[in-house]
Formats: sequence, structure tokens, C-alpha cells
Amino acid sequence: MSAVTPEEENLVRLAVIGCGSLSTKRIFPCFPRLPVRLVGVCDLDEAKARQNARRHGGEAVYSDALKMLDETKPDGLVVCIGPEMHAKLAKEALARGIPVYTEKPPAPTATEAWAVAQAARKAGKLCMTAFKYRYAPAQAKARAIIQSPEFGGLSNLSIVRASGPYKNLPGNARTEFLLDFCIHPIDQTLFLAGDLDEVFAVAPTMDNYAISVRFASGAVGSLAFSCRGSWSQPLDRAEIFGAAGQQIQLVDQIFLRYHADGVNKQTNEPRFCTAGGDSLVETGFFPEVEAFVAHLQGKRPVEQIPSRIEESVKSLAFYEAIKASAASGKPVKPARFE
Ligand SMILES: NC(=O)c1ccc[n+]([C@@H]2O[C@H](COP(=O)([O-])OP(=O)(O)OC[C@H]3O[C@@H](n4cnc5c(N)ncnc54)[C@H](O)[C@@H]3O)[C@@H](O)[C@H]2O)c1
Repeated sequence: MSAVTPEEENLVRLAVIGCGSLSTKRIFPCFPRLPVRLVGVCDLDEAKARQNARRHGGEAVYSDALKMLDETKPDGLVVCIGPEMHAKLAKEALARGIPVYTEKPPAPTATEAWAVAQAARKAGKLCMTAFKYRYAPAQAKARAIIQSPEFGGLSNLSIVRASGPYKNLPGNARTEFLLDFCIHPIDQTLFLAGDLDEVFAVAPTMDNYAISVRFASGAVGSLAFSCRGSWSQPLDRAEIFGAAGQQIQLVDQIFLRYHADGVNKQTNEPRFCTAGGDSLVETGFFPEVEAFVAHLQGKRPVEQIPSRIEESVKSLAFYEAIKASAASGKPVKPARFE
């Protein structure tokens, strides 16, 4: 049997900027399972770029991101650095007509993310954020259940997330607990419950948040975020209630139990030890890269990408509303960008 040619496989020419911890552990390992040609690999630290290119078949190595974009002219760009560079490089790529996938957060502020959304709109190209909860099977099932007629409409959602310590250094987004860590449950909340109406937050310090929310649907919710937990056992729980007797439990992002009036209706309980599960899939890391590649192949239109930049703008507006409410002691409605 003859091997499939690159043309037959419809290989996507991808470039990556940022070869640090996350991309090396969670993004590059996705490529061998996808129809991807890695045409450029870039990091300010060229040794890191060289190492990842060697391990994953990268065709060219760069320390200058713009030079790589201009020389390789990729079909798509992956950026994994930090919020400021995500926004800056996304705009550079979009101005060149190149679709972009950035890690979270897509920008340091909602206004800067909105500027990226405008650039994507102007270019007519996708910009998506790696908000992995939107791609994790348990979370997607929970959203489908919440939206199903038998759930009767969301009434109450409660999320508890905890990590180990964050430094919360002024002006350093990567060290800010609420932005760097909590942006995931903030985005998860909107993914599950829909648009926000109002938020009231109490936060005696930047590592401890008690948040009450009302959604546009009229449902209510509470979020407890703390970085006074442990990195060896980060906590990730959600309890979600429907109209009468329906309850969904989400644990550690990947486990789901849905029951109604005591009857078990649905579960997502992967068994990794028996090859029944794949942690890269269950955590959403693989499906989000897969979605980007499918889009670049023309198989998945922008509207079917759940974490497109317009949605990420809302998550950053939610994050800013939490901060504003904690600072003012008053309920805050999130900024709207249209
Ligand atoms: N989705 C998740 O669960 C998750 C988990 C961890 C981190 N992240 C996010 O991933 C991003 C990266 O985190 P990390 O832990 O890998 O950071 P890191 O510091 O380990 O890696 C960042 C890399 O970017 C490179 N870099 C910086 N500026 C550059 C430039 N101008 N051009 C090219 N390369 C440049 C650095 O040399 C470094 O190698 C952050 O935004 C973080 O919030 C996401």
C-alpha cells in the first residue's frame, strides 16, 4: 500500500512562537497526531526553539517572530508566551492574513483583546484562545445538558477553584492569580452559564475571592477562588442545578455526573489505566489544537470555534468586573464591546 502524500493528507503549514514550559508539554506533543507541517519554530531563546524543532520535525528555527512570519508565511500561527505578546503578535499575524491561536489570556485587558478581535474582523481571519475548558469533553457535555429541555433551564452554578501560591506582583500579569489562573474558571463560567449580567466580589487580598454573579438568563452563581491551596492538589469543582431536581457535578475538569431526581442520567468518567481515556483529550488540550488545524483545513468554520476572540473579550470583561467590584465594594456590570 502506498503512503499518503502531503497533498492527499491536506497538511497545514503551522508556525509556533514560544517554546517554554506549556507549549513544550501540551502543544507540541499534539502535532504528531495532526495533519501538520511545522514550518517554523521560534523562541527568543533560540536553543529552546532548536530543541523543540528537533523533537517535532520543525523545518526552520528563529528567534525573531516577525522574520519567521515573513519568511515562512504559515497557514496558521500558534503563540504561547504571555498576555501582552499574545495580543501584540496576534495583531501582527492577522495584519499578514494569518489565522492565530494564542494561549490564554489572549491579552492583559478586555480593551486590548477587543483590539485583536477588531484586527481579526478586518482581516476576515480566525483568532482563537486556548480556553481548554471549552474543548474538554466533560465540560462540553455539561453545557449540552444545561441547554437541553429536560434540564429546565440553569438556576444555580457554583464553582470552587484553588491553586498553590501566586506572587501577585504589581504590573506582572503572569504572577496575578485572578488573571493567570482564574481566567480559566471565569471563561468556564460563561461557557456553561452564558452571558453575565452583574457581579459582586469580595476580595480582602489578591489571593482570595468570594464572588456572587447574576447571569443574563436570570440564573445566579457563586465562585470561590483561592491560591492558598496546594500546587500538588489544585481544586476544581462545579455544582450546577437545573429547574427542579436536575444536578450536574464536575470534578477536576474531566469528570461529570448528571442525575435528575436521584436517577443517574449521564457520566464522563475516563479510565486512564485501562487505555479508556486520554488525558490530553480529556483536559481539552488536544481538541483545541485539533479545532485550529481543522479550521485551517477548511473543515471547521469560525462559528464552530467556541473560543474565538470575541468570546474571550467577554471573559476578560468579567475578570475586570470582579476587580472593579472588589475595589469599590459595589456590584458591577461587565463592559460590553460591540
Ligand atoms: N492552558 C493552560 O492550562 C496553561 C497552563 C500554563 C500556562 N499557560 C499559558 O501559557 C503561556 C506561556 O506559559 P509558560 O509557562 O509556557 O511560560 P514560559 O515562560 O515557560 O514560556 C514562554 C516562552 O516564550 C518565550 N518568549 C518570550 N518572549 C518572546 C518573543 N518575543 N518571541 C519569541 N519567544 C518569546 C520565552 O523565551 C519562553 O521560552 C502563558 O500565557 C500562560 O498563562 C496556559
